[in-house]
Amino acid sequence: MEQTFIMIKPDGVQRGLVGEIISRFEKKGFYLKGLKLVSVEQSFAEKHYADLSSKPFFNGLVEYIISGPVVAMVWEGKNVVTTGRKIIGATNPSESAPGTIRGDFAVEIGRNVIHGSDSVESARKEIALWFPEGVAQWQSSAH
Ligand code: CMP
Repeated sequence: MEQTFIMIKPDGVQRGLVGEIISRFEKKGFYLKGLKLVSVEQSFAEKHYADLSSKPFFNGLVEYIISGPVVAMVWEGKNVVTTGRKIIGATNPSESAPGTIRGDFAVEIGRNVIHGSDSVESARKEIALWFPEGVAQWQSSAH
């Protein structure tokens, strides 16, 4: 079954949006397979965002991600990578539709509350990076 990596960024944690965000994924019908509150170091954040290292906003992005604890999660379900990104909304909150997480809770691209893997391959890499210990093996009876 497909899995994706979802991270609630420091602004999402500080603003008390953790429960709301988890609720949206649960109510959609996805299954929580991994969850932890972590403060990551600069080198780890740089590794997570390695594909963006040449972007002008890279240093600011890394500073933002290490500015406070984040909630790292693995969610599982049919088409969860693509559907998860629909639940999250467009990267730039100015373009994300109302009803999406960023559409409802963010205004700045540099403070956009949440990250979701952009492909099955990215999800595999990000889950391996954030959950080297592995994730839960439980299967919902609805699977
Ligand atoms: P995320 O889904 O975590 O993937 C890459 C992140 O880079 C993105 O969300 C934004 O937080 C950030 N980002 C993308 N474009 C910009 C930009 N133009 N300025 C600042 N941050 C950006």
